[in-house]
Amino acid sequence: MTIETTETTTADAAAGRPLLDVRDLTVTYASGAAAVRGVDLSVAAGQKLGVAGESGCGKSTLALALLRLLPAGTKVTGEVLLDGEDVLTMKWGRVRAVRWAGASVVFQGAMHSLNAVHRIGDQIAEPILLHKKATPAGAKKKARELLEHVGLPGARADAYPHELSGGQRQRVMIAMALACDPRLIIADEPTTALDVMIQAQILRLIEQLVAEQDLGLIMISHDLAVLSDTCDRLAVMYAGRVVEEGPAQEVYERARHPYGKALSAAFPRIGDLSSRFAPRGLPGDPPDPSALPSGCTFHPRCPEAIDACTTDDQTLRVAGPVHRAACVHVGVPEPSAPGVEGAP
Ligand SMILES: Nc1ncnc2c1ncn2[C@@H]1O[C@H](COP(=O)(O)OP(=O)(O)O)[C@@H](O)[C@H]1O
Ligand code: SF4
Ligand SMILES: [Mg+2]
Repeated sequence: MTIETTETTTADAAAGRPLLDVRDLTVTYASGAAAVRGVDLSVAAGQKLGVAGESGCGKSTLALALLRLLPAGTKVTGEVLLDGEDVLTMKWGRVRAVRWAGASVVFQGAMHSLNAVHRIGDQIAEPILLHKKATPAGAKKKARELLEHVGLPGARADAYPHELSGGQRQRVMIAMALACDPRLIIADEPTTALDVMIQAQILRLIEQLVAEQDLGLIMISHDLAVLSDTCDRLAVMYAGRVVEEGPAQEVYERARHPYGKALSAAFPRIGDLSSRFAPRGLPGDPPDPSALPSGCTFHPRCPEAIDACTTDDQTLRVAGPVHRAACVHVGVPEPSAPGVEGAP
C-alpha cells in the first residue's frame, strides 16, 4: 500500500508545527446550543489523543467541526490548522480534498455509514477514483489491498454490508478512512457498538495502523479506560470545554478535575474488585448547552464545589509539568494525588 506521508511529516517537523492545531474553537448550533466552547488542542504525527466525556459534552460536534461537517446555520469560530492550513477558511473544493487525503473520520455504527446496496469494494474504491485520480482497475486493486491491511480477505470486496459482522463492517470503515492515505484519523466512538473482544481487536488495529503510517489519531470515547489504554494524551470535555488534559495514564489514574476524577472512577479497573462490584457514578447529566449554569458549569454536580464556583468560571490551570485542569482547587499541592507535581 502506498503511504505518502514522509515528505510532509519531515516538513512539519522542520517547521516545528503539529499536524493538527486547533485554537479557540467555538461551535454554536442554529438552536443557540453552545456545544463547543474555546477548545485548544494539538496532535502531532504519530500521536494519539483521546477525547473523553459523557454523552452530550460536545465530542462529536468537535469532530465534525474539524472537517466542516456541521449542518448549515451552525456558527463556527476559531482556527483548525491542518498542516498549517486553516480548514475553517478553505474553499469548498479544498475542503473536499482534505476530507479524504488530509484527515478522515471513522464513525460509530458502520451499518449506518455504509451504503447497503453497494458492494464494499466499490465503496472503498470510490474516493480513490475521485481523489487519487486512479484508474477503475487501480482503485479496485487498492480497495482489496486495504481490506487485507485491516485483516479482511480481499475477496470480501464483493460482499454487501449486510453480509459482514459488526466488527468486519467497522474494519471496512477503517479501510475506507485510509483509502486516500490521510495523515490524521478522527475515530468517533469507533468501538462503542461492538462487543469487548471485537472492540479490543479494532483498537489494536487502529493503534497498529497509526504506528506503521505515522498518522495522527483523535480517538473519541466516553470510556476513559479504553482511551488511557490506547492514547498518549487525554483531553476530558465537559459542557463543550476541555476541563482537563495531560498524559493519558496520568489523567486516568490521577485526575485532578472533579469531573475527570468522577469519569475515571466510573470504570472498573483490572484487579480492583471493589470498583468492579461498586463502580462509582456521578449523579445528574451534563447541562443543556443552550442554558449553561453560571460560574463553573460543573458546579451543580460537583462534590468539591465551593461558594465561588457558582459565579467564577475557571480556565485550565497548571496541574503538573504537562497536565492541566480547570478547577479552583488546582494550583495548590493536592495530598490525594501522589506523584503529580504540585503546581505553583
Ligand atoms: N444539530 C444539532 N443542533 C442542535 N444541537 C445539537 C446538534 N447536534 C448536537 N447538538 C447538541 O450539542 C451537544 C453536544 O452534542 P454532541 O457533540 O453530539 O456530544 P457528544 O458527542 O459528546 O455526545 C448536545 O447537547 C446535543 O444535544
Ligand atoms: S471549579 Fe468548583 S465546581 Fe468547578 S470543578 Fe472545581 S470545585 Fe468543582
Ligand atoms: Mg458523540
